[in-house]
Amino acid sequence: MTTRSNIRDGRSTSHTVAVIGAGYVGLPTAATLSHFGHRVVLAERDEVRLAALRSGQMPIVESGLDDLVAESVLAGNLKFTASATEAVLEAEFVFLCVPTPQSDDGSADLSFVEAAAKEVGQLLMPGAIVVNKSTVPVGSATMVEEVIGRPDIRVVSNPEFLREGSAVQDSLHPDRLVVGADDAQAAAMVGSLFAATGAPLIITDATTSETIKYASNAFLATKLSYVNAVAGLCEEVGADVRDVMLGLGYDKRIGFEFLRPGPGWGGSCLPKDTRALLHIAREAGYDFSLLAGAIASNEQQLARVVAKVETACGGSVDGIKVAVWGLTFKANTDDRRDSPSLEIAHRLSALGAVVQAFDPTVSGGLSEDPDNVPNDLRGLHLCADPYEAATGAAVVVVLTEWDEFRWVDFTRVATSMSVPSIVDARNLLDPAAVRRMGFTYDGIGRR
Ligand code: UGA
Repeated sequence: MTTRSNIRDGRSTSHTVAVIGAGYVGLPTAATLSHFGHRVVLAERDEVRLAALRSGQMPIVESGLDDLVAESVLAGNLKFTASATEAVLEAEFVFLCVPTPQSDDGSADLSFVEAAAKEVGQLLMPGAIVVNKSTVPVGSATMVEEVIGRPDIRVVSNPEFLREGSAVQDSLHPDRLVVGADDAQAAAMVGSLFAATGAPLIITDATTSETIKYASNAFLATKLSYVNAVAGLCEEVGADVRDVMLGLGYDKRIGFEFLRPGPGWGGSCLPKDTRALLHIAREAGYDFSLLAGAIASNEQQLARVVAKVETACGGSVDGIKVAVWGLTFKANTDDRRDSPSLEIAHRLSALGAVVQAFDPTVSGGLSEDPDNVPNDLRGLHLCADPYEAATGAAVVVVLTEWDEFRWVDFTRVATSMSVPSIVDARNLLDPAAVRRMGFTYDGIGRR
């Protein structure tokens, strides 16, 4: 049964909480719950990450997270430990925020979830509630319950909807909270931990809750594929996608969010969750061709951007210097997992381009010390700033929407390039302004 209620009751009781895993989900979750007055112990077994946290350094780039963490540590509400077993000893609630990597067929590798559940299962306080916060396949709550194998322990699905780059805002002010369990009371108790957000609370069963998470991300991905496809159509018919999206966005049923065309959607969630949902549908014997189409359309978008760069270079990038601005999957994060920007940079490199790349979160000096270059950046020449990246290049390709790219001195860029040309895969720049400075300009769906 699905019930809707709002738990803005003002009585925010403090609870003891353990969070296992200090990644992109676990760390903001721990920071938010401790900010709400709960006593949180965050377990992280990666020593480097843990040491960083203990010294007040955030292991991920996330605006406002350092202050939120520092405030809770100072208030005595947030502690760190290397040991998951130690974290759970006095916890009424245990949030599992461990990675769920994906296999080639779209199925999720639940070994970290399973291992964490096994590790802490026998040590949980009687009646403790375990919460699946990581995005997990439908049926995972039951799986965790079976692994723990204790009748007094209930497992609740509570998917996370925060976006990287705005994790703090999204966690403190979520659009909604979803909690799912076969025991509705346990679900409601998890919801009450977040009462201070005042967000609408959807209490449902675990299977439905797990499905909501995939369905949300798959919908966002489909919306973006649609937007990118409309941008492609705009180029063919001579329309301007920005005005088209303005015209769509004012329709309240469509809204303005997620209407910006780009090089393709990426990151650690949308690609993974769309593939996962397709896998789930396939296993269930359901032909989800709409979603398959959205994924295929995203692949086309990456190829279309590569083709734009080739065109800007006169048909081929072989042996040509190409400046790439931006490598992370979006701005305001240091995350490059499944980044369309990075994928396009590598595709250009595979076509023979000399890729001179700059990203504000990547150190320009890395290329000089090849042993220190992370695997995913090998083959790219990493530059210290946008100007170094543009030097001698035939085209600047804007791949991530970092705001600082708007404020670059384009006259200086133009004089340092072999040909002043821009492919703006994020529609970040003003075409008229850069054209006035002598650049040829090609955006996504823009005139
Ligand atoms: C996504 C969802 O938005 C979150 O609600 C969800 O919690 C999260 O996945 C998750 O499952 O953990 P995230 O991956 O952090 O969040 O990033 P988004 O802001 O959703 O962006 C995803 C991709 O879409 C990026 O490549 C971004 O550049 C692209 N995008 C987004 C566009 O190209 N245009 C837009 O208008 C918006």
